[in-house]
Amino acid sequence: MEIKKIIEDSSRYLMNTYGRLPVVLRKGRGVKVWSADDKEYLDFVGGIAVNVLGHCHPKVVVAIQKQAQRLIHVSNLYYIENQVKLARLLVEHSFADKVFFCNSGAEANEGAIKLARKFARERFGAGKFGIITAINSFHGRTYGALSATGQPKFHEGFEPMLQGFTYVPFGDIDAMKEALEKQKPDAACAVLLEPIQAEGGVRMPPPDYFKQVRELCDASRVLLILDEVQTGMGRTGELFAYKHFGIKPDIMTLAKGLGGGAPIGALLATAEVSEAFTPGSHAATFGGNPLVCASAIATIQALLEDNCYLIEHAKRMGSYLAQKLSGLKEAAPEHIAGTRGLGLLQAVELTRPCGPVVLECIERGLLVNCTANNVLRFMPPLIVQESDIDQAVQIVSDALKKL
Ligand SMILES: Cc1ncc(COP(=O)(O)O)c(C=O)c1O
Repeated sequence: MEIKKIIEDSSRYLMNTYGRLPVVLRKGRGVKVWSADDKEYLDFVGGIAVNVLGHCHPKVVVAIQKQAQRLIHVSNLYYIENQVKLARLLVEHSFADKVFFCNSGAEANEGAIKLARKFARERFGAGKFGIITAINSFHGRTYGALSATGQPKFHEGFEPMLQGFTYVPFGDIDAMKEALEKQKPDAACAVLLEPIQAEGGVRMPPPDYFKQVRELCDASRVLLILDEVQTGMGRTGELFAYKHFGIKPDIMTLAKGLGGGAPIGALLATAEVSEAFTPGSHAATFGGNPLVCASAIATIQALLEDNCYLIEHAKRMGSYLAQKLSGLKEAAPEHIAGTRGLGLLQAVELTRPCGPVVLECIERGLLVNCTANNVLRFMPPLIVQESDIDQAVQIVSDALKKL
């Protein structure tokens, strides 16, 4: 189909939920993608932190092909071999003892909220259902995940939200303490936080914040849920970001990078907490089907290979990208308010909205994301090389000069 026609038909047949950029992507390999008019782009968006191994990684492609020939979907009414293999890999490399599979980040967070509430009800009685989350957080678009999201702009028009959510400033341990105390006696069942507020502008927690949150949760008999939908799967230079903080959550949610591009989400929990779910408590028709699990197994095995070589590489490339981005700030202080991030989740906060910069970058062959209005977010695949980073940062620098 002609590009103009694709764009016209998109507004004719698709609901108007995305402000799309004027590119039709048709092919991808590694860190690069090509549009329908054969223009080459360096992809520093990576499907919004999904393509951890880059586009069409051969191991992922082969795993999907082989599985598609054998068995694509069967119901969770039966045992699914790939699901068990994937769950075992996740359990062996995390704090968790049990896994539930679903299809997206929002759905994983729905599951986490339900699990926390059911656990608390069975353990402590009906009143302990409050969930404390952070202002400026993002947890997804379904009602539970949306209610957990501490940004009123996403709630607008969809009220009323689910009851029982309290929002506190991210990184403010006194506010967290106060919220937990206010909810006493025993009203909060869980604290739900992202390790780094990614959609909210790549906001970093202060050092020791998560250690202190963990202590407060323990003292209040409140579960700690970490939403690692964006930070998980090696993105920050550890398989899961909580490993940077020297703590363990009780529940963790994953999606995005987990399937290497296939749509899969997961809810991980300790054995004790998992027991609150029993047959019939929760379900997902497609959750962890043979096809998506084959893709996820290939992805996680590639990440773990050679003593987690790729994750170490991501850590090194993350430091390199961070250093280049702070160099950009020195060269153009009038455009840049600050730079921050961890591993290959990096950001440049501009002194103005970043939409025009994103368009200039597209013109010059770079896909980069704008979040929180003025934050350029960089989420390249973990296989990115220094030369890709040099090229990307040069394009951003040129785009800033043009403005
Ligand atoms: C931290 C976090 N949680 C949840 C979600 C929602 O994931 P999904 O779009 O797969 O529902 C996102 C999506 O950006 C996210 O960044």
